[in-house]
Amino acid sequence: MTVQADIFGEWRGQVLAVRSGRWRPERDRAFWHAQAARYDAGQPELPNTVAWLRGRLAGADSLLDVGAGTGRLTLPLADAAARVTALDHSPDMLAVLRGKGPPAHLEVRCQELADALHDPGLPPHDAVLAAWSLAYLPDLRAALTGLLRLARRDLFLLEDDGLGSPHVTLRRTLAGQPRPQRATGLRRALHALGLPHEHLQLTETRELTFPDTAALLAQARLPLPDAEVLDILGPYLTPHLTSGGEGWRYRWAFDVHVLRVRGEGA
Ligand SMILES: C[S@@+](CC[C@H](N)C(=O)[O-])C[C@H]1O[C@@H](n2cnc3c(N)ncnc32)[C@H](O)[C@@H]1O
Repeated sequence: MTVQADIFGEWRGQVLAVRSGRWRPERDRAFWHAQAARYDAGQPELPNTVAWLRGRLAGADSLLDVGAGTGRLTLPLADAAARVTALDHSPDMLAVLRGKGPPAHLEVRCQELADALHDPGLPPHDAVLAAWSLAYLPDLRAALTGLLRLARRDLFLLEDDGLGSPHVTLRRTLAGQPRPQRATGLRRALHALGLPHEHLQLTETRELTFPDTAALLAQARLPLPDAEVLDILGPYLTPHLTSGGEGWRYRWAFDVHVLRVRGEGA
């Protein structure tokens, strides 16, 4: 007899084990209350991902972005559909989005996803996007099947497999806390649900500049001697002259995993 690993049980176990307790919506909202104002500054732009999604949205009448946050993807995609809904349970993240002056055809909807999935007032959309927003949902099966019901043409799930910046990856590895492989988890969940899907990895780049070595080391926060940190990060660093002296340009590539599930109306 083959023993099938239960991805939904594994996912739930990982989510409930997170010490911050962010699977409780009020905890997640409190997290974003503290982070919303600095979220954008800490996030890379995703030009290749936006370009790919725009291509797939051609002809779509409506787009629902679930966990839209500050609109990092919603806003650059907004002109690709006649009707856009940015749904999020964090009023603070949505306040940042609103502050950017969204177009009139974009509806901002502050709602818990679990409630939205059963809300007759939220109609299906041609395309549904969930980008890095399912991470703390204990019931992944209910979320995916609910999102698919809302997606007439396409459901797009965006995640990573924890391979972000070299310094954070190393910091977590040294602490024995590698990031969960969420993109792989989502793929396994789609397989378990018998949902065929397209999977691709889009490469994006991130660049930070530092006025001097001290600033770079302060950002890296690695429990290693300075020389070792510079050696490890060396392949990603190029000298960068600033008015104040010799600094660093720190650049790395990372993969965005995109999972595309076709809806019944595709
Ligand atoms: C990591 S941010 C990603 C934001 C945006 N998609 C992006 O890529 O920049 C996750 C967002 O999902 C929202 N979110 C998480 N769980 C949610 C839930 N259960 N219902 C509604 N929104 C949720 C959070 O409030 C947050 O704004």
